[in-house]
Parts: sequence; structure tokens; C-alpha cells
Amino acid sequence: MLSKISKLQSKKNISKIICLTAYSKNIAEELDKYTDLILVGDSLGSVLYNYKTTRKVNLQMMIEHSKSVRLGIKKSLMIVDMPYNTYRNKFEALKNCKKVIGETKCDGVKLEGGIKIKKIVEYLVEKKISVLGHIGIMPQSVRGKFKYKGKSQKEKNEITRDAKILENAGVFAIVLECVESSLSRVITKEISIPTIGIGSSYYCDGQILVTDDILGLTQSNIRFVKKFVNIKALIRKGVKKFKAEVISKKYPSKRYWY
Ligand code: KIV
Repeated sequence: MLSKISKLQSKKNISKIICLTAYSKNIAEELDKYTDLILVGDSLGSVLYNYKTTRKVNLQMMIEHSKSVRLGIKKSLMIVDMPYNTYRNKFEALKNCKKVIGETKCDGVKLEGGIKIKKIVEYLVEKKISVLGHIGIMPQSVRGKFKYKGKSQKEKNEITRDAKILENAGVFAIVLECVESSLSRVITKEISIPTIGIGSSYYCDGQILVTDDILGLTQSNIRFVKKFVNIKALIRKGVKKFKAEVISKKYPSKRYWY
């Protein structure tokens, strides 16, 4: 039987790979019906805790949210973001990845970086840890404004090099964040593992977005974010109705008490 990872990889050039983020069980449970991969992203730092950068997210936060997400997933691949400063060398990376996998029962981890983390990725893969790569814009390293990647030929060459290095190091797929469209197309063609785009065009093998963004829970005005539904409006509707019924004593009626 194909492992979950081989199954995801076998979609390359056949059908799109559907990926979303989750930080808790109830959301994960609904996503799981449609997704191939659910990422517990360190974006939870800005989305849930209002942090200015993902650098403030720590391992314990990732573990606690991931344990909750685990409860909601039956079929999708579950990947956990390794937060900033938890994989500065291969020994630290292995120790922390083992802790995350052991405590959350996730299927693998995501690390940001290209050539700089080559040795770390090789070591983790050698130790049988499944790694999802992440290049292009890497929020753990960004200072100031987020811009897209692949403007200059130098940048194009570096990103292509990084994609190939990660492929050779053994990652099972690579997230391309805000990578210029023609470059995403070339990379997707030139590597044999799937590319998962975020703001990187439909040439990628799959797409990922932050779930809170697509549901309209955040106020994101990032170019690549599309609001597919406005959950905030639904929440307001439900809460207003609850308030009105409590005031009018329509709720709780006998059916709802003991
Ligand atoms: O932290 C995150 O949520 C991510 C993705 C959206 C790729 O890294």
C-alpha cells in the first residue's frame, strides 16, 4: 500500500494537491474531508496571537496546537512547522523534530530554507523524518515588507538552486512562497517532487493558504489571499440571535433545561 507521502507525490502532473493550515481540531476535521495535506503553520503566531513575526512562536505552542489538530485528522497528511531557532544545527533539529513527532503524532515537519539547511535536511531524512521544504519568501527570515521572489536573474538562479538542493537532500515536496510565476513553472517542471504554491501561480503542483484567510476570519490584504467565504458575518448573525433570544427569554426554553 502506498504511504500517505507517496500518495501525495503521485499526484504530481495528474491532479492538484490541496493543502490548508489548521491550528485546532474542529477546523481540521472539516478540512480533512477535502485536503491532501494539513499544515500546522507557525502563521498561528500572527493569526491567533497577533505577533508581528513568526519568530516569537515556540516549540511548545506548536506542539499544543498540533495535538488538537491531530484529533481532527483522519486521512490527510499532517505536517508541523518547526518554529524559528529550533533547527539551527542538525542535532538540535533532530532532537526537536523527534519531540514534535513523538508528542503530536504528525507525519512530518516543515523547515524554511535552501542551501543553508541542506545538511540539516539530509540528516533528518537519514533519520527517517519526512521533511517538507519551504523557499521563496521565508517568513522566519523576513525583515520589513514581504516582497515576491524571483525578480532578478540572481534571485531566480538562487531559488532554482535551492529547490534542487532540497530535492536532492530528500524533502518530499517544497512550498514555494511568493515565487514569480514563470520561475515557479520552471522549478515545477525541473524537479520530480511536488511544488506547493502560495502566491506562486497555478503552475505549482498544489496550493496552500492560511485557512483563517480563506474563511474571512482575518483582515488580510495580501495580494494572493482570496476570501472564499465570510465566516465573520455568520458568527455575528449567530451571536446576535443568541443575544436576542436570551433577552427575550426565547432561549433557553424548557427543551434546553433540566
Ligand atoms: O506558517 C504557515 O502557515 C505557512 C504556510 C502558509 C505555507 O508556512
